[in-house]
Amino acid sequence: MKDDILPLITAWDGEGIVVRHDAPTGTWIFIALHSSLLGCPTGGTRMKVYPGLRDALRDAMRLAEGMTHKWAGLNSELGGGKAVLALSRPLDAEARRGLMHRYGRLLESLNGAFCTGADLGTGPDDMRHVAEVSQFVLGVDQKTHASTDPGPFTARGVLAGIRSAVLHRFGKEGLDGVRILIQGLGGVGSPLAGMLAAEGAHLLLCDADSSRAQRMSQDLPNSHIVPIDRVYTEKCDVFCPCAVGGILNEDSITTMGCKIVAGSANNQLLEEDDADRLHKWGILYVPDYIVNAGGAMALTLMTQGISEREVLEQRVDRIGEAVANILEEAAASQTTPLSTARRRVDRLLSRSRSARNRSTQS
Ligand code: PHE
Repeated sequence: MKDDILPLITAWDGEGIVVRHDAPTGTWIFIALHSSLLGCPTGGTRMKVYPGLRDALRDAMRLAEGMTHKWAGLNSELGGGKAVLALSRPLDAEARRGLMHRYGRLLESLNGAFCTGADLGTGPDDMRHVAEVSQFVLGVDQKTHASTDPGPFTARGVLAGIRSAVLHRFGKEGLDGVRILIQGLGGVGSPLAGMLAAEGAHLLLCDADSSRAQRMSQDLPNSHIVPIDRVYTEKCDVFCPCAVGGILNEDSITTMGCKIVAGSANNQLLEEDDADRLHKWGILYVPDYIVNAGGAMALTLMTQGISEREVLEQRVDRIGEAVANILEEAAASQTTPLSTARRRVDRLLSRSRSARNRSTQS
């Protein structure tokens, strides 16, 4: 059967999948719990119409694993998880709010086994609605109900990472005149475009919704629109993917016109080998889960009581140093930045696995 999801579940190396069918909207809810080794599985809630159920579940699983790496890369005491709300059709505001309430009640019934926040297809309003019935939401103040959008923080971290990558690759300080192509002008891509424009970058804008790109280009100096069929081949210094994952693959890489890839999309590589392919092709790939960690970082700092925007931004800006560090180490050891980042993550995870084994044995 085309949509048989059971083999996917049995083959997965994560800890478990929660499945719920939301009858009123025909939505399938998948919560993928990848690892609780470092702490409570925590990750965003993605909502969209998928081609099939298997695509939705696979996305949840891969994104959950990405979150395990992201939290470990941040040295956070949180584990990897991700939720996908696979819509059967686009929903109006009322149906959407109803779905968020039922989803929130599901989270509440899981009693802290999974914590969430906004992701592609969901925003601060959705999270406010989830938080009306569940305490397991990051970024929503339980008293004031103010909901923080992680997008601009993620964008800020990507900006810092791009600066480091440009310095590493071209020996150039600042982004004045640097050609940067942004794929996807949503919750992260759009604030990022404004930040890059303010630094004098030459922007190339691309979005599946061409009118969105057009509108943004009118507002930003020194920006042009790139049609969707040229998004990979267009010559540029930095390609900045801020939409869906899996876009760096055997087919796209050999056609790419950029020198650096650094962006906010999760799971940009279709498979890990694609990092080697990029390397061979002379493209510097900044690992997605390092450079896009700003939103996750800000949301967790907020749960620790840090709420001043300036302090959060200063912390997020340190992503620039983390990226510079990884790029230098990778160059010195002649590996890809992804292997360097992965080595650090694996070291941390295996240390905590041994600690856990020791404590269960004693
Ligand atoms: N969805 C964003 C990310 O993948 C922000 C986020 C992080 C939301 C963690 C919730 C939890 O990084």
